[in-house]
Amino acid sequence: MKELNIITPVLSVGYDELSESDRRLVDAARGMTRKSYAPYSLFSVGAAVLLDNGEIVTGSNQENAAYPSGICAERTAAFYANANYPDARFTAIAIAARDTSGEEVAEPISPCGACRQVLAEYEQLASRDVKVILAGRGNIYVLPSVKSLLPLAFTSFE
Ligand code: THU
Repeated sequence: MKELNIITPVLSVGYDELSESDRRLVDAARGMTRKSYAPYSLFSVGAAVLLDNGEIVTGSNQENAAYPSGICAERTAAFYANANYPDARFTAIAIAARDTSGEEVAEPISPCGACRQVLAEYEQLASRDVKVILAGRGNIYVLPSVKSLLPLAFTSFE
């Protein structure tokens, strides 16, 4: 028997410690929380994907009266990015959120399981790590890859 310890490296940083490119991505994700359609949860999420062609593709959560029909900000951005730039590869994603108080969440939120699975596939497609930046008011977490958020991921049935 062998024990495998899977480590999730998370850097907790301040906004000023981010590179200019990462700050731009966080700004875009934060801005998108204002465009969310979340009349049911009143929880507004924004996401911004940086592609290797330099484009930043953004999304926000979009809810629906038939609840499961809504979609998270991360998948809105990821699907739009790959639908419109199928030849570009993901390099980073930033996520931000505002709660019912209207303020940015104090601690960063992290993508749901379905979004992790979707992002893991785009990371695999990119053949490189996709940096994940989770922005909160107090802390910003930086993870080196989607894999680190979804260890032992199912990536293919081949
Ligand atoms: N949501 C996201 O958009 N991204 C996440 O990472 C977590 C949750 C959305 C789904 C729903 O519209 C609202 O936030 C409350 O769960």
